[in-house]
Amino acid sequence: MAGGRAFRPSAPRRAAFAALLTLLLLATLSFLLSSAPPASSSSRSRSSSSSRPSSRLAAVRRHAADHAAVLAAYAAHARKLKEASAAQSLSFSTMSSDLSALSSRLASHLSLPEDAVKPLEKEARDRIKLARLLAADAKEGFDTQSKIQKLSDTVFAVGEQLARARRAGRMSSRIAAGSTPKSLHCLAMRLLEARLAKPSAFADDPDPSPEFDDPSLYHYAVFSDNVLAVSVVVASAARAAADPSRHVFHVVTAPMYLPAFRVWFARRPPPLGVHVQLLAYSDFPFLNETSSPVLRQIEAGKRDVALLDSLRFYLPDMFPALQRVVLLEDDVVVQRDLAGLWHIDLDGKVNGAVEMCFGGFRRYSKYLNFTQDIVQERFNPDECAWAYGVNVYDLDAWRRDGCTELFHQYMEMNEDGALWDPTTVLPAGLMTFYGNTKPLDKSWHVMGLGYNPSISPEVIAGAAVIHFNGNMKPWLDVALNQYKSLWTKYVDSEMEFLTLCNFGL
Ligand SMILES: *[C@@H]1O[C@H](CO)[C@@H](O)[C@H](O)[C@H]1NC(C)=O
Ligand SMILES: *[C@@H]1O[C@H](CO)[C@@H](O)[C@H](O)[C@H]1NC(C)=O
Repeated sequence: MAGGRAFRPSAPRRAAFAALLTLLLLATLSFLLSSAPPASSSSRSRSSSSSRPSSRLAAVRRHAADHAAVLAAYAAHARKLKEASAAQSLSFSTMSSDLSALSSRLASHLSLPEDAVKPLEKEARDRIKLARLLAADAKEGFDTQSKIQKLSDTVFAVGEQLARARRAGRMSSRIAAGSTPKSLHCLAMRLLEARLAKPSAFADDPDPSPEFDDPSLYHYAVFSDNVLAVSVVVASAARAAADPSRHVFHVVTAPMYLPAFRVWFARRPPPLGVHVQLLAYSDFPFLNETSSPVLRQIEAGKRDVALLDSLRFYLPDMFPALQRVVLLEDDVVVQRDLAGLWHIDLDGKVNGAVEMCFGGFRRYSKYLNFTQDIVQERFNPDECAWAYGVNVYDLDAWRRDGCTELFHQYMEMNEDGALWDPTTVLPAGLMTFYGNTKPLDKSWHVMGLGYNPSISPEVIAGAAVIHFNGNMKPWLDVALNQYKSLWTKYVDSEMEFLTLCNFGL
């Protein structure tokens, strides 16, 4: 019946597609411009053209054109599905809240005699059956929606790559064989299906290990919905550790991905005796609209930012028993034992991080709006910015200085997005930990493997942690080829789901 109505695409979606197509057009144009070398430099370019940049560029252009075609096809398909999926999403959220209400009723009835819970049990079974039918029905639509989102990410990355090629006058990286964002989505879905097919095989809430809140051990927090990336972070840190059993990883994900994480780590228990705690952010009752302006802004539809990215501002509340936590982003690889991070003296500061300014670049003036009075009063525009990726937090100092409250104040002030770009988290961190950050030695955290093709091999070899920040993630086929194996060597290639989902790693 929804199909009977005339189709009217929403304005934001139309704008998004237009923007994507424009991006592609620009990318193609920039390619055309860069592939016609100016006459004056032709002799030089001839002598250095042994690596045939033109054929590589042609390959990139084909790649972009292919994506444009695929994207157009998905756009047409999505337009058809749009109205149907609006109706579906409503019935989904209703069904979902029904089911969670039912599950808490079931939980409170667990101790009752069997006869008394029979009717409730039957109701639950019927609802689950209905939910499954609905899910199967919607799968096609859902896949399409998320494919578009992820394809747009890829197209964006390809555009960036072309722009860089033009600047550098040569293509420094090839399109490597590898996975696409689609593979990542496929992986999450296959893991989820494995669990649906055999619920009894996977414990819901494994008993917490005593290690999880033992403050004498080395604790890491990783916030991610990418199970493959997290598996690499954990595996690399385990292999680099002198005593893996003293390292504890707290992985926090979105509730919808938690089952997939559980399946992965049930099939592949944490390597070498490291400990892994899997959590969803719904496990933390203090993350609610009353107490957190982040949640309030997200719920009010004011923020296009992932809640997962903002969880880093709640570490002391998440881990009340701990004194020190290292925050790792999911696009890093650990190459050296990180135990040393627990022995660094932070001089009473809250945050230990590597600085990233050089000359006039990457200073506070780049991240904050210094035409605002409050920014001018409180911050120095020339202050050096530090990076997220590897951060040591003294949670006691954090609690002492009330950094979470300070963060909340800044979030309230930035309600209209005039202080900093609210789709990023770094500026909020720069404000919150201003004057409260201790610079770490640069070898702890080497950045740029997701966009900078010319990092010296010595610097990479000497890094405790390498960070694939940028759009060319090592799990995507746009990854920079020269760095890819630094990441893929920690991928568990025996995992059957990876072949199923065409990860060409
Ligand atoms: C929200 O969080 C605050 C503290 O952070 C807590 O006191 C309150 O009970 C929470 N509300 C709900 C509904 O869980
Ligand atoms: C920066 O602040 C000024 C007001 O001081 C405002 O007019 C401007 O829009 C802000 N810039 C951004 C990018 O939000």
